[in-house]
Amino acid sequence: MAIRYELLHTCKQSGARYGLLHTPHGTFETPIFMPVGTQATVKTLTPEEIKEVSDGLILGNTYHLWLQPGDDIIKAHGGIRGFMKWDGALLTDSGGFQVFSLNSIRKIKEEGVYFRHHKNGDMLFLSPEKAIEIQENLGADIIMSFDECPPHDATYDYMKDSIERTLRWAKRGKDAHKTDQALFGIIQGGLDDELRLYSAKKTIELDFPGYSIGGLSVGESKEEMYRILDLLKPVMPTDKPRYLMGVGSPDDLVEGVIRGVDMFDCVLPTRNARHGTAFTTEGKIQIRNKRFEMDFSPLDPGLITPISKYSKSYVRHLFKAEEILGMRIMTYQNLAFLKHLMSEIRQAIKEDRLLDFKEEFFKKYGYSK
Ligand code: GUN
Repeated sequence: MAIRYELLHTCKQSGARYGLLHTPHGTFETPIFMPVGTQATVKTLTPEEIKEVSDGLILGNTYHLWLQPGDDIIKAHGGIRGFMKWDGALLTDSGGFQVFSLNSIRKIKEEGVYFRHHKNGDMLFLSPEKAIEIQENLGADIIMSFDECPPHDATYDYMKDSIERTLRWAKRGKDAHKTDQALFGIIQGGLDDELRLYSAKKTIELDFPGYSIGGLSVGESKEEMYRILDLLKPVMPTDKPRYLMGVGSPDDLVEGVIRGVDMFDCVLPTRNARHGTAFTTEGKIQIRNKRFEMDFSPLDPGLITPISKYSKSYVRHLFKAEEILGMRIMTYQNLAFLKHLMSEIRQAIKEDRLLDFKEEFFKKYGYSK
């Protein structure tokens, strides 16, 4: 196992964890936010820019890269890192979640999932073993078990069958796994306390070097998500990293960390950026808004970065004119903002004042709580 988690401090006020995640391509302070590079690119940014606005650990996707250009081509480049010229660390998701979210025509069997290609209609098959094989070719430092992410409102019986199958898949993936990449187990169970705790217990029994919490931020309320995280906090092993999949709004990052989460990823900051929404230290803004037409201040006056030289008025113009540079500047801003937020969170944990930080942050950022 080529990663190691070191718990260095637990916030006395909140119970949040500060630690170090040692990987073959760097040691990272946690809690950490990982930008999403689905197609071996964090959309619009070069690897040099990604370095500036991340902590050096990013995410790639098995599903997309398997279908295009193919994991054999990426393997021939020495993995995703060699392919995209990223010299930081990398995590890949297993493809399970994308099969379920992108394909309406699919059949779940014990052996794996049969589905039609979301663009060309080809019949495809993904299994726990295949997901491991692809991820070994993609070469990330941290890889994921193949899981099913059922709808949060699935019936109890469906959810129970699904988590039992996901547990069998996790065991099969573990048995098929040959490299020293760190394979994480994924806890499912929807919003049912008993099923969540059962999935956690059984996944932890399989003994993975880290645990992901899946099946959240899929349409349930924030309160429901926080309740499940509260439920899981005391049962998660303290000596392993905990990764909350697909979560990354500023408020959810703070609330997730308070509930013991160490790692996060989400397309939200990069996707929102491309749609003109910026996260700033003064709150969320929509840059197309007319009120920015003559606003010469930087996107985020409270966070000085290389893009601070551009005015809101200019970035607004770029969006109105559909110029690509606008998306690049906004993506840079949103990731720089989350990097800054995570460093403030870590500092607050170390100083045992994360609940005070949360209160100030929600007030400043315009959240109601
Ligand atoms: N990304 C967001 N949620 C999930 C999940 O439940 N499973 C996987 N594999 N990836 C995710």
